[in-house]
Amino acid sequence: MSIVAHNIRKIGVMGAGQMGTGIALVSALRAKVPVLLYDRSPEQTKKGLAFVDKLLEKDVNKGRIQSIDAKEAKDRIQVVGHEEGIKGMRDVDMVIEAVSESLPLKQAIFASLAAEINPNAILATNTSSISITKIAASAVPKDVSSASDEGKKIAGRVVGLHFFNPVPVMKLVELISALQTTPDVLNRARSFAVACGKEVTTSKDVPGFVSNALLMPFINEAIMCLEKGIATKEDIDTTLKLGMNHPMGPLQLADFIGLDTCLAIQQTLYEGTRDSKYRPSILLERMVDAQWYGKKNGKGFYEY
Ligand code: CAA
Repeated sequence: MSIVAHNIRKIGVMGAGQMGTGIALVSALRAKVPVLLYDRSPEQTKKGLAFVDKLLEKDVNKGRIQSIDAKEAKDRIQVVGHEEGIKGMRDVDMVIEAVSESLPLKQAIFASLAAEINPNAILATNTSSISITKIAASAVPKDVSSASDEGKKIAGRVVGLHFFNPVPVMKLVELISALQTTPDVLNRARSFAVACGKEVTTSKDVPGFVSNALLMPFINEAIMCLEKGIATKEDIDTTLKLGMNHPMGPLQLADFIGLDTCLAIQQTLYEGTRDSKYRPSILLERMVDAQWYGKKNGKGFYEY
């Protein structure tokens, strides 16, 4: 497929967690666009920026980039203050939303984005499993018909751009068109992901898309294997690492993604398909009940 010019001169990233921070970094360093980064927690933003510094410094020390490239990339990332919020991003050409996997949260954000941001900007979501079509519908104000030209134009700006963790390392972006997404928005979003140094695959808007429709049952099966006492967590992970050459075992990977995120994705898959093969294991539910979220808060299947 030929690559069209993305014409994106400035982006906004919503959410400074592990995904949002990584997206801000590759956008600033690889696509070389100014980035406005916003998170409702200033503490999280501070943590995210410190992580960006660490990764840039490592790239300089390893001779992959010059210190001037690191400085320019860092300078391209500006923080939007809490008072300004979404309004602080009004002049961007694209927003990439990377907040937690909650449909009501994303719906509220997309309604605000559509109201506040430059009306020609692309509104992308990094959701791992939620329907892009549903998110696009939430961008249309209540008093505008989704079937009208205005409604179609608003929802047509929304697209799924699914990055993988850790974003600076993983080479893939999954591109998902909502029913409403216009071909121009889809093509420009693809070109932007390519400018970030990523290879792009396309998936239909089904629960979990291709990536998580395949990955989550695999992770869940590993958790059930542990739950049934078939093997220890170490043996389950080592079997997959050494037997199948996976970089991480499935339980280690679940900790790395976040057990709360894995559960949220599995619930979306299960509710969206009503297929029992996607039903989350009780052990995963209980671990999230215990607020053991994996690497991000120090306790999951392993201790960090
Ligand atoms: N952020 C940025 N870079 C990171 C990182 C992070 N969180 N963690 C590791 N890295 C970098 C390291 O700095 C290192 O970089 P250099 O080569 O420049 O030194 C490189 O990754 C390799 O790291 P390590 O040598 O420390 O460790 P490793 O060889 O075990 O690799 C890994 C770490 C890249 C994470 C590897 O284990 C891996 O590929 N794991 C699988 C990751 C995966 O499957 N991700 C997808 C999850 S699913 C998802 O994200 C989508 C979803 O919807 C749920």
